[in-house]
Amino acid sequence: MNSAQGSVSVIGGGFVGLTLAAHLLEKENQIVTLVEKNSAVVDSMKNGRYLVWEPGLAQILDDAQSDGRLSISTNLNGLESKTYFVCIGTPKPTSSNSTNNVMVEALTEIFKTVPKQSTVFLRSTVAIGTTNTLKKLATDLGRSDISLYFAPERTAEGVALAELKVLPQMLGAAEGDSLANGEKELSTLGFNVVTSTTAEVAELAKLACNTWRDVIFAYSNELALMGEVRGVSALEAISLANYNYTRANIPLPGPVGGPCLSKDAYIFLEANEGKVRDSVIRSGRLINDSIAPMLITAIENAFIDKATPILCIAGLAFKGKPKTNDVRDSLGIEVLDKLKSLHSTWKLKIWDENISQEELSAPMPRCEDKEDFQKVDALVIANNAEFFSDSAGVKKLQALPSSSVIFDLWGVTKNLEGISAEINIFGDGNWVKYLGK
Ligand SMILES: NC(=O)c1ccc[n+]([C@@H]2O[C@H](COP(=O)([O-])OP(=O)(O)OC[C@H]3O[C@@H](n4cnc5c(N)ncnc54)[C@H](O)[C@@H]3O)[C@@H](O)[C@H]2O)c1
Repeated sequence: MNSAQGSVSVIGGGFVGLTLAAHLLEKENQIVTLVEKNSAVVDSMKNGRYLVWEPGLAQILDDAQSDGRLSISTNLNGLESKTYFVCIGTPKPTSSNSTNNVMVEALTEIFKTVPKQSTVFLRSTVAIGTTNTLKKLATDLGRSDISLYFAPERTAEGVALAELKVLPQMLGAAEGDSLANGEKELSTLGFNVVTSTTAEVAELAKLACNTWRDVIFAYSNELALMGEVRGVSALEAISLANYNYTRANIPLPGPVGGPCLSKDAYIFLEANEGKVRDSVIRSGRLINDSIAPMLITAIENAFIDKATPILCIAGLAFKGKPKTNDVRDSLGIEVLDKLKSLHSTWKLKIWDENISQEELSAPMPRCEDKEDFQKVDALVIANNAEFFSDSAGVKKLQALPSSSVIFDLWGVTKNLEGISAEINIFGDGNWVKYLGK
């Protein structure tokens, strides 16, 4: 079924497209067409299996599919919508695959296909200048009738549907397009719009939101990495620095991954053209990227005398709270993949109550019962999921033998009692004995 006149089309059925579609469909009369180019993903969605887990999402999409308000298609042909939200994935840029190229390729098809006088909102994260580059593309394709806007997504996974209801929706218009018209259209759809004078300002603001967080966490991570090298507790130092001293508000250290924070620094830097010489944003990202290699060195040194150690990686989603099943750019997956390639004799296992085999690129043996945990030589706690500290989780941690080593990246074991394994919390300075000379 194609969408009716006045309905909305969402292009890209990943996290952003699905949550946006569900948000729009929460309005009773809204009709949405979801366009997803991956036919296997479309088949799954038609059978009620969606790529992402988000509280309430599947129910809204299932209901809308059954009452005919949500249709799902692999292509744009025949759509009658006049409003389009582009939610396609933008990659970490490389010399051969820039964010701009990905958007130009997708938008060429969209501009050629959508009806006259359509409005296109870009929701994907893009490099500064992309909206106006794409406006020029539309004009070059003879589609200056299309109005183009940058209206980025800023939600956090696990709370996206709640945040879509309250977060201000940033909006910038492409050169020559009416900001007021775009604002009116988004307001009609229920968004609380905040406008910028140009599309570039909104593009920079979106990148600022994530790169700012990345840099702030990198600062704490640098303290923690230094603490590990020197055998000094950065966690205690941070607590001491913050104590009754309002000018220091230093966050705790920890892995910074996921599909956005791991790449937005690089998308930000795409627009640099070598003119800003030093970059705190680049350095921050490199510091955050350096936690995994240091952890791998520590694990390798912990196993130096063992030919076939059993290592369990626990917490594979890129974050534990709010709960998500998104494993993209997670520390757990990065460490698992690296150790698989480096140490073919090691027995690698996983422990994760939130991740099914479907979410992993290859099936992995799991630590499930007490007997499995009793045989583990080392356990990496890679996120701060709730299941580590519920009573079943604590029993599993207590089953680890006293000879085993825990590398706890989030301090989740800090206040747990009855664990006989050796605990090494990231930032406490205990990794030093495993880092070699
Ligand atoms: N939490 C988040 O994931 C988040 C938050 C804010 C912003 N963003 C940004 O939003 C964008 C989308 O993120 P995502 O996580 O949903 O990406 P994703 O890669 O998980 O999903 C994108 C989907 O779009 C589909 N697709 C790609 N090109 C298409 C095309 N031409 N036509 C139809 N479908 C197409 C892909 O097959 C994929 O299923 C990215 O730019 C991302 O950086 C993501």
